[in-house]
Amino acid sequence: MPIDSEFPKNHKVVGKHKHEDGRFHFVWGPGRSDAETSSNEQVQEAYKSRGEEYVPLGVHGTFVGVDWDSCIADGACIEACPVQVFQWYRSEHDIPAVQMVNATSAGIGENHSREGRKDYTDKSDPVRESDCIWCMACVTVCPTQAIKVDEANLDVHKKTAETAG
Ligand code: F3S
Ligand code: F3S
Ligand code: ZN
Repeated sequence: MPIDSEFPKNHKVVGKHKHEDGRFHFVWGPGRSDAETSSNEQVQEAYKSRGEEYVPLGVHGTFVGVDWDSCIADGACIEACPVQVFQWYRSEHDIPAVQMVNATSAGIGENHSREGRKDYTDKSDPVRESDCIWCMACVTVCPTQAIKVDEANLDVHKKTAETAG
């Protein structure tokens, strides 16, 4: 099941993932327990190997939204983006993804290679969402359609920033 194309309407802001340079992206929840990761063997095995609980995670980003319940850590988006919007979150903070909801990142994580994933519990994190040039490469290459890029959602981001700041 791909990312919900109406996620900003159907979900609520559950956190604000900050960048040390002052930018941030919103995190939308609740997550979905029936998305691709719930039945993906590589992902489930990776959680077991770590001894980490598998929990629904929601969407990171608003105008570049990545559904972390659909993201199976393929990494094609990371290689495709010409302006390195994404990084593997675990390459900077190797902690359970649920704790990334209100994290602060420096943006120093691996952002070029799919092999930079720590393992299949890793996620593509749009830490430089505002650098997006709307090329849509990430949307095209993601095997699970976990990414929605929509310029119209830039307004959603701005309005949400005013109210949920
Ligand atoms: Fe990069 Fe996707 Fe935007 S590939 S430029 S984040 S549309
Ligand atoms: Fe995940 Fe799709 Fe990127 S599975 S790592 S969002 S290509
Ligand atoms: Zn994030």
